[in-house]
Amino acid sequence: MGVTIIGTGKALPELSVKNEKLAELVETDNQWIIDRTGIESRHISVNEKALDLAVSAAKKALGEIDLDSIGLVIVATVSPDVLVPSMAALVKRELHLSNAVAFDLNTACSGFIYGTWTAEALIKNGMCGNSNTNKINRALVIGVERLSRIVNWEDRGTCILFGDGAGSAVLEYSQEKTGIIGSYVKNYDDVTDCLTCGMQYIKTPFTNEIEHSDMFLKMNGPQVFKFAVTAIEEVMNKVLTDTGVSADEVKYYVPHQANMRIIKTAAQRFKQPLEKFQVNIQNTGNVSAASIPMALADLMSSGKVKSGDKIMIVGFGGGLSAGAILFEA
Ligand code: COA
Repeated sequence: MGVTIIGTGKALPELSVKNEKLAELVETDNQWIIDRTGIESRHISVNEKALDLAVSAAKKALGEIDLDSIGLVIVATVSPDVLVPSMAALVKRELHLSNAVAFDLNTACSGFIYGTWTAEALIKNGMCGNSNTNKINRALVIGVERLSRIVNWEDRGTCILFGDGAGSAVLEYSQEKTGIIGSYVKNYDDVTDCLTCGMQYIKTPFTNEIEHSDMFLKMNGPQVFKFAVTAIEEVMNKVLTDTGVSADEVKYYVPHQANMRIIKTAAQRFKQPLEKFQVNIQNTGNVSAASIPMALADLMSSGKVKSGDKIMIVGFGGGLSAGAILFEA
């Protein structure tokens, strides 16, 4: 008995922006971006709201699933359309998920991992209505971002990296199958504030000064790079050790899509062929919490995955945060 991922889906905004277009905005060039990141283009929302993307990805993951069986909606995001209501509450309303508890979660690019980790624990432990007799035994986990709205389009060190989109998965608790066999998440203190995004606050009648906060996503790239490769290794090793599964036994890896060089480093450190790693960064850039579920949806719809195949999803991001989940298809 346990929790299995039974559906996945993704949604991208219509507009795809190539590197060459960004070279018209900041001092950069196509080849530099490809060589240093692996990114060739990214999708940027023009008319699509985060809610549109989230609902579209969720519908694909849900397919024909009975909507009354969904007891939980978690949306991982750092770029919601609004702060209140939560994106999860909006998705619940839009999809008429009348039995669902709904909330948002922010662990930046690790958001989908933390969301899945939370959902698994809640539905497994009967917190969202599961039991032998109760049919409310499923959870919807979504990662959605419109990073185009929080990125500094004058900073070549960040604006070339990010994109918009959404990915989603449906989790099911059942007596018959245990899909998720291991998971581990970890927070590391960001003592140097190497990855931040501030907010804009209004001046109150009780203070003389406006609280200045950087509204843009800011990053110390090389420092985050070093954190990423170390964190991936640590969380993946922990899950492999805990489950007694070797790196070779994992059929596919679905890493956070932040930089092709980070993915290559992970493949080298685990002595795995790059072909086992699902990569879509070339067409999406880094879409934070949406990156992993979008790449997972690509893998699951590729026709490659067979029932019982072991798949590892692994993420890292602001916080700092990291995590990995091992499951069987
Ligand atoms: N185009 C051209 N040159 C650029 C550039 C761009 N878009 N961005 C930076 N540069 C320049 C820098 O100014 C620097 O020039 P200098 O040597 O004259 O000072 C040079 O390229 C090297 O910059 P650096 O930041 O050291 O490059 P890098 O090889 O570390 O690559 C990143 C930069 C951002 C691609 C890389 O650090 C990275 O991917 N880091 C991790 C990011 C990440 O994972 N973020 C998400 C976390 S979830």
